[in-house]
Amino acid sequence: MFSVAIDGPAGAGKSSVARRAAAALSFIYVDTGALYRAVGYCAAQKGSDTKSAAEVEPLLDSISVDLKFVNGEQRVFANGEDVSEAIRTPDMAMHASNVSAIPAVRAKLLDMQRSLAARNNVIMDGRDIGTVVLPNAQVKIFLTASPESRAMRRLADHKARGEEISFETLLDDIKRRDEADSTRAAAPLKQAEDAVLVDTTELSFEESVETVIALIQKGMNQG
Ligand code: DC
Repeated sequence: MFSVAIDGPAGAGKSSVARRAAAALSFIYVDTGALYRAVGYCAAQKGSDTKSAAEVEPLLDSISVDLKFVNGEQRVFANGEDVSEAIRTPDMAMHASNVSAIPAVRAKLLDMQRSLAARNNVIMDGRDIGTVVLPNAQVKIFLTASPESRAMRRLADHKARGEEISFETLLDDIKRRDEADSTRAAAPLKQAEDAVLVDTTELSFEESVETVIALIQKGMNQG
């Protein structure tokens, strides 16, 4: 099996770029952030403080998270409920970031991620794919962009969905999550030593996709 790890901060375009590259190469695209969001969603629904390991850990056995691929599109299920859309709010992003700092949550999701990569050619995106989940991935990419351009892209996503939100709120949210995700003790966001850095600040979406596909094809030709 061939694995591509794409890591990077929130809003760098990982998921849209990875989705397009996966479709072009007939790989499956695995969005691991959705798993953390699903756990955060369940913990928040049960009324727990998602920052508290003492409150979240005892819930973990009663939370089941599943990924299914329908026509190549990933759907995420929490306790049997399809939460693919419900987990896409700024609140759920923060709950996901909170629970992702809890080692027991990361341990719970690790096997699922590895077994998907053992059975399929995958492009998997997240924060720790190249460093922890798939350290032997044949291609590792660290995709980033300036916080301002990431907030601009998120603004366009929200506008396209008809949602009102300010640029400042999004920029603030991105900076807070960057800080939390990169300073936590458990599997912090960081570039793997053998990852290729792709900064998309000055790249169009199409250029980002082309750059990523070219890196993957280079890796496949070497393998
Ligand atoms: O990629 P995303 O915005 O959907 O991720 C939501 C949160 O989940 C993010 O703030 C950090 C966490 N996460 C993680 O810790 N490890 C991953 N592999 C993916 C996401």
